[in-house]
Amino acid sequence: GQDEEGYSDGRTQRGGCEEHRRIYDRREGDRCPLSCIRYNSPGACIRDNNKGWCDLKAIIAGTGIDRDPRFCEGIVKAETAYGDAFYSEHDGIIFIPRHLPGHKTAPHKINYRANVELLRMLGVDGVISIYAVGSITRKLAPASFGLVRDFIDLTYGRENTFFDDAVRHTPMINPFDITLKAKFASEAIKEGIPMGYETIYITTQGPRLETAAEINAYRHMGADIVGMTLATEAELLKEAGIPNAAVAFSINWAAGLDMEGVSFLEDESIERIASRIMKIALRALS
Ligand code: HPA
Repeated sequence: GQDEEGYSDGRTQRGGCEEHRRIYDRREGDRCPLSCIRYNSPGACIRDNNKGWCDLKAIIAGTGIDRDPRFCEGIVKAETAYGDAFYSEHDGIIFIPRHLPGHKTAPHKINYRANVELLRMLGVDGVISIYAVGSITRKLAPASFGLVRDFIDLTYGRENTFFDDAVRHTPMINPFDITLKAKFASEAIKEGIPMGYETIYITTQGPRLETAAEINAYRHMGADIVGMTLATEAELLKEAGIPNAAVAFSINWAAGLDMEGVSFLEDESIERIASRIMKIALRALS
């Protein structure tokens, strides 16, 4: 079907139709079947298997980072086969505010599948995903940021697969893309911030914070940092075959590790770290 839904600025975006499902396995040299948001007209770009459709990259971000105007301005809604997703596009980069504009959605309520499906529909072939976390070990202390090496998934009841009907077991041995990680690390060095140890992120169901006993148990399990979103997103990106590098920044010591209770960084420090990470991420994707 050729039916398209128009946006007020003249762009169009197809819904989750048959045609849509077919775009994923187009061949080198095929024309982009989507109304290309980069060149602003349908079929304007040609498939290059090294680059995807349009050489589009994306940043998915949440707490702290989503205050960046790029995550708030020019947001459009796109329909996917898994529900609505919200994104903006600035200078050829797609920005997805994970918790929606205005930080409205709790971690266990995020439509992760719609977000990842949107990226697949747009032909995005590189994502930097950014996460605010709590520190369990000194490998990533509060106010610092770094790359994530691996994750542990303790979530439950989330829609965390595209393969409900087909039996498909996606390997998770290398959850993150080494090329993208290397690019991020090399841009970080240029900013005078060496990326040292890569951390293990344990993903809790939330939305509550952890007990001190839980955090102690997670430390014994090998986790360095804790948050509520990474695993679900990383699993779906991997299933979708979209290269992803995850960057975590710590905003607190996890439960039981701070005499004061759980206290979070001040807004100004969060903003300072967020703008550094964004600068590095944008360079790494360009
Ligand atoms: N626990 C879980 N998620 C988090 C935390 C935490 O301490 N800090 C930021 N996200």
